Amino acid sequence: MLEISGVSAGYGRLTALKSVDLQVRKGEIVFVVGPNGAGKSTLLKTISGLMAPSSGSIAFNGEKISGLAPEKLCRKGLALVPEGRSIFRTLTVQENLLLGSMIRKDKAEAAADLDSVLDIFPILKSRYRGVAGHLSGGEQQQLAIARAILQRPALLMIDEPSLGLAPLVIDQVYESLRQLNNRGLTLLVVEQSTARILDLASRIYVLRNGHVALEGTAGDLADGHALEEAYFGYGERQAAGE
Ligand SMILES: Nc1ncnc2c1ncn2[C@@H]1O[C@H](COP(=O)(O)OP(=O)(O)OP(=O)(O)O)[C@@H](O)[C@H]1O
Ligand SMILES: [Mg+2]
Repeated sequence: MLEISGVSAGYGRLTALKSVDLQVRKGEIVFVVGPNGAGKSTLLKTISGLMAPSSGSIAFNGEKISGLAPEKLCRKGLALVPEGRSIFRTLTVQENLLLGSMIRKDKAEAAADLDSVLDIFPILKSRYRGVAGHLSGGEQQQLAIARAILQRPALLMIDEPSLGLAPLVIDQVYESLRQLNNRGLTLLVVEQSTARILDLASRIYVLRNGHVALEGTAGDLADGHALEEAYFGYGERQAAGE
């Protein structure tokens, strides 16, 4: 579904992504993990058209998409929940959700999707007419994800869904990701921590200093050793004499 080949991108002289190869297949839930500054958000911004790659190519369902504007990519079925959620705090939960389905023409189906989203996130139902800014961090994260789902994306990308959330709330958010994936949604999720992802992931990429340090299925990486080594870059640091 998503095919990233040799993609580099950066900010001025700084190269934040160095020849990254990554695939997401239909029905998968793929995690990209890595420490602060690894290039995870840059990767999602590049896929969703907010940044242009300096080299390499990105294809979505067989069609080259690198260089297309974010609105075009949104219409093609790519949705991004950016780092920090970006909900409209002064609008109600209902209004935020309606903004998600605004670009859709199939109004009847959009209404049905709204019902099913409120099933997955019951808290949004009970706070439906309340102001979004009064929701807790975890509730706001659920709202941001729910709004993105109402665009009916083929691929949903989420930048650090667990950021700033208490462990119990992270469990709830992850459970909703599992439900969405079970219903057939393909997901690409970025996280800083490797905790909890093994249960849920189809495949995992470790991003370090802008390059893919390790890739494998959750089964391959189940014991966590290789994951930890790639994450902290033990091999690289030894080679560099650190
Ligand atoms: N707008 C920007 N201008 C200049 N440099 C940037 C900008 N955004 C990110 N960078 C740099 O690019 C590199 C990758 O940043 P990125 O935000 O992709 O990391 P990240 O993996 O998402 O980190 P985090 O886990 O902290 O969110 C870092 O060195 C960062 O300082
Ligand atoms: Mg980030």
